[in-house]
Amino acid sequence: MAEPQFDGRTALVTGAAGDFGRAGALALAAQGATVIAADHPSRHAELAQTVQMCGSDAQSRLFDVTELDDVRAAIDGLIIDIAFNNAGYQGEFANLVDVDPADFAKVLAVNVVGVFNVMQSVALSLSSAGRQGSIVNTASMAGVGGAPNMAAYSASKAAVIGLTKTAAKDLAPLGIRVNAISPAFIGPGAMWERQVAEQAGVPSSYYSDDPETVAKEMISQVPLRRYGTIDEVMNVVAFLLSDAASYVTGTNTEISGGAS
Ligand SMILES: NC(=O)c1ccc[n+]([C@@H]2O[C@H](COP(=O)([O-])OP(=O)(O)OC[C@H]3O[C@@H](n4cnc5c(N)ncnc54)[C@H](O)[C@@H]3O)[C@@H](O)[C@H]2O)c1
Repeated sequence: MAEPQFDGRTALVTGAAGDFGRAGALALAAQGATVIAADHPSRHAELAQTVQMCGSDAQSRLFDVTELDDVRAAIDGLIIDIAFNNAGYQGEFANLVDVDPADFAKVLAVNVVGVFNVMQSVALSLSSAGRQGSIVNTASMAGVGGAPNMAAYSASKAAVIGLTKTAAKDLAPLGIRVNAISPAFIGPGAMWERQVAEQAGVPSSYYSDDPETVAKEMISQVPLRRYGTIDEVMNVVAFLLSDAASYVTGTNTEISGGAS
């Protein structure tokens, strides 16, 4: 990865103890950004590792994205220029008729309310400092096409796309661009392993009950016939956050190898 540069910019990355967030934090740091890496308090050890990998000027923030006051307090006093608003929760895999209402609510809280809380807090911070900025929200192809056994997750990621489009309109007068990314099957990593195992474990007319076969069934849905890599996702994130995308706002970029 090269090109876009973030020298002198401060970047907030949520979910930075996880696969995408850590890769995003490292990519932005490598391109000159001062990274504020954030995650849930329960992930403090992994977050500390991310911060260490990012270099000496990186900082960590521990907060639950569903708690607006905590989000505000954590970024109070910082001037954030760019944000990779990426924390998310996949939820339990279940057919619609078996969905646990409490888990449904938790997925919506993290993926919708959490994304909103971070986006609003960053927008307020930017506008009070009179600065322009750029935000990338992590949605998913599940929010575009609807993934089997993932009702709450699909609903929540569709909501992220809608939130992104409204935010782009509402924040454009402030010079803040907002875009979403929708990855499909990305690997290797915890989420790839988990979704293969979970889909195999849930009775379904779409996937078999053997994880190795499920992996092949997923890849067969992808015209490029492979899963995407985390670097391929970060290339898009860095572009959308950078000035190279200065006329791009309100988009949802599908990073899916052509899967829909
Ligand atoms: N990996 C994929 O294949 C894939 C595909 C499409 C979309 N996504 C999305 O990408 C994002 C990152 O996924 P990942 O693969 O890195 O998963 P991950 O589980 O490794 O990372 C998600 C991070 O979000 C954090 N988080 C969860 N709930 C939180 C909360 N309430 N407050 C603060 N932090 C919280 C977790 O602690 C974790 O570190 C998620 O939004 C996910 O839905 C991933």
